Amino acid sequence: MLKPNTNYASLKDSYLFYNISQKINSHLEKNPNAHLLRLGIGDVSMPLPAAVIKALHQAVDDQAAKQTFHGYMHECGAPFLRDIIAAHYQKRGVDINADEVFVSSGASDELGDILDLFDKSDTALIMEPAYPAYVDANIMAGRKIIHLPAGKENGFLPSPAKEAKADIIYICSPGNPTGAVFTRKQLKQWVDFANENGSVILFDAAYEAFIEEKELPRSIFEIEGAKTCAIEICSLSKTAGFTGTRLGYTVIPKELSCSGMNFNRMWVRNRTTKTNGVSYIIQKGAAAVFTDEGQAQIKENINVYKQNAKVLMQALDKLGIWYCGGKNAPYVWMKVPDYFDSWSFFDYLLNEAGIVGTPGAGFGNCGEGYFRLSSFGSTEDTKTAAVQMVRLLKQS
Ligand code: MLT
Repeated sequence: MLKPNTNYASLKDSYLFYNISQKINSHLEKNPNAHLLRLGIGDVSMPLPAAVIKALHQAVDDQAAKQTFHGYMHECGAPFLRDIIAAHYQKRGVDINADEVFVSSGASDELGDILDLFDKSDTALIMEPAYPAYVDANIMAGRKIIHLPAGKENGFLPSPAKEAKADIIYICSPGNPTGAVFTRKQLKQWVDFANENGSVILFDAAYEAFIEEKELPRSIFEIEGAKTCAIEICSLSKTAGFTGTRLGYTVIPKELSCSGMNFNRMWVRNRTTKTNGVSYIIQKGAAAVFTDEGQAQIKENINVYKQNAKVLMQALDKLGIWYCGGKNAPYVWMKVPDYFDSWSFFDYLLNEAGIVGTPGAGFGNCGEGYFRLSSFGSTEDTKTAAVQMVRLLKQS
């Protein structure tokens, strides 16, 4: 008899951002003329950079002529894109080769797919508050999860400890939802810990482009020893506005092996079986991100979001509310006023000012009492939201 995957029964009824969009829909049904100030899901509001648009147009034209037409793409990524990404790492002093770079359809897809490399009996360590997809993907696979709570006392950057021993270790830096960034020294502790215990770190670097302090690491491979214990998952979603265009990349060093199995070779085997690659057009658009022109243009867009984050931080400063993040990250993680929990604060902001944020409890139990504001909204909406928040919270 057919057996469904009963692990799904252990999941929460619905995914955090789906839950929020349901709440928004019901609010809009009741208030059809409401203009919402969207600081919830980290979806970008700036259009794609001009260099990317030009490359996309050119790639569409390529597909119209016999001589330049492309059919199936290389399953692991087009050589032109793998080369330019590897060169991008090398320019920053990180020695990565093109055949260690795998092009993906986005980091969120990849964070689930990559679990194919591990056995069901492997345990997964998740530092919380955390991006909820880490937890859900492992529940779906029936894997045991070890939750490592973090809080204000350690700046939401926990250190390795006996109880943190696990086969797979998730690290997100800059962190989603807290915006906290691991220092080189702190990451080195995790790398040493993973190497000592034979664990693999899944390093989610989706927000690396927001780091402005030079001494903070943007890649786990800046840390000595990482090549024998880490996989890095990157995305152009937030870096270059690809949330709706879809492209990411993953770095699996050739040195990463366990019990005679090599993870880079395993991933080649996986990709050549399970995908026909990312579309030629999108890969051409992505390659433009790594040109000098593309890099200058994405920086301009990122600066718009950084300015938004500043506006939100200034509002919280005015209110005397504790927060972290916002400086080297696109998220501001604030304490909710004492008389709310994170979901009642969500309802209050939505109903009283049309502000949409993300309740901390959606990122794990230790996120309760906190709230995430995203800087990816439009400048106008962010400014209005900041003014409204000051008005509301000053009087309450
Ligand atoms: C978030 O808001 O946490 C992210 O946008 C979710 C994602 O990248 O999938």
